[in-house]
Parts: sequence; structure tokens; C-alpha cells
Amino acid sequence: MRSRNHLLLTNITMLLLAITGCSESPQTGRDGNTTHQAETERLPVYQRWYKREQTELGGLLFQQHCAVCHKADASGTPNWKETDAAGKLPPPPLNGTAHTWHHALPVLRRVVTLGGARLGGTMPAFGGKLSSDEIDAVLAWVQSHWPDKIYAIWNERNSQ
Ligand code: HEC
Repeated sequence: MRSRNHLLLTNITMLLLAITGCSESPQTGRDGNTTHQAETERLPVYQRWYKREQTELGGLLFQQHCAVCHKADASGTPNWKETDAAGKLPPPPLNGTAHTWHHALPVLRRVVTLGGARLGGTMPAFGGKLSSDEIDAVLAWVQSHWPDKIYAIWNERNSQ
């Protein structure tokens, strides 16, 4: 009986996930907790794509180039969806609590390389300052702040 209930719960969970699709922060929300606990159980913990040396270099580069806007711990601006008087978005959190984990690695690389001005934003372009290896290192450090469940969902989506 128990396992049947569990199966039912898993099915409902998957259905909910399919419906909510691109929900913003799976780790928040009261009822969301149960949903994502089940989701976490279903997903294996992935080997991350980056190496420790990359996160070490990336951490240094982040403090030098990114922390001024995104904060030293990548927590960014809490109200990251609110535009300022000029209609510009503030630097968002990159630590897995906001929207960043919706983007595949090539998209994240492009944001850092080309910046956001081309899309009406204010994020500077780093293509002229950092090599592609350095940009990967910064992104590795950023992703090292993502909890396993966020990383697992990101990984699953982007390997499809
Ligand atoms: C001058 C402030 C500033 C600096 C410095 C800066 N950013 Fe940003 N960043 C922003 C803003 C503002 C946005 C929101 C998009 C926009 O306005 O272009 C953003 C967006 C992003 C995004 C997309 C986030 C998402 O959820 O879609 C990533 C990734 C990112 N920044 C990474 C970095 C990294 C890595 C560095 C350092 C190499 C960096 N940023 C330096 C201001 C900055």
C-alpha cells in the first residue's frame, strides 16, 4: 500500500513538473519542497563537468571581475526581477536561487563573453578581458554554488 502511494506521488510530481515547466525557483515554495524532494530522489547525483582547479581559479577571477556587481558570494540582488528607474535589471544572484540555472553552458558562456548590452541590459562583455578558459573557470566557480538538486535538473535538461 505504501509503495503504491509513493508511486502515485511520483506520478503526480512528474505531472506537476511537466506543467510548471520553467518555474523560477524550485528550491523555494512550501508545497514545492515535497515535489522537489521526490525529484531529487529520482535524479542521480551527477558528476560535475568542471575540475577543482577551475573553481579555484574561477573564484579568484570572480572576486576580481564580477563580485562588484554580483556580490562576493554570487548572491546578487535579492529583488533581481525588479527593474530600476531606467528600466534596467539589477545584477541577479548566480548561486542557483534565481534564473541562471535555466541556461545551458553555451548560453552562460555567451552572456559572459558578449555581455548584456546587446540585449538592452547592462552586464559588461568580458570577451576582451578573459580567455575562454578563464570564463569557463568563472562559470565553474559559479556553478559550484548550485545545490546538487539544481545542478541535477540543469544537467538533465541540458543533456536532452
Ligand atoms: C557592472 C555590473 C556587472 C558586472 C561587473 C558583471 N555582471 Fe553579470 N550581470 C549584470 C547584470 C545587470 C545582469 C542582468 C542582465 C543585464 O542587464 O545585462 C547580469 C547577468 C549575468 C548573467 C546572466 C544571469 C541570468 O540569470 O540569466 C551571468 C551568467 C552573469 N551576469 C555572470 C557574470 C560574471 C561571470 C561576471 C564576471 C566575469 C559578471 N557577470 C560581471 C551585471 C554585472
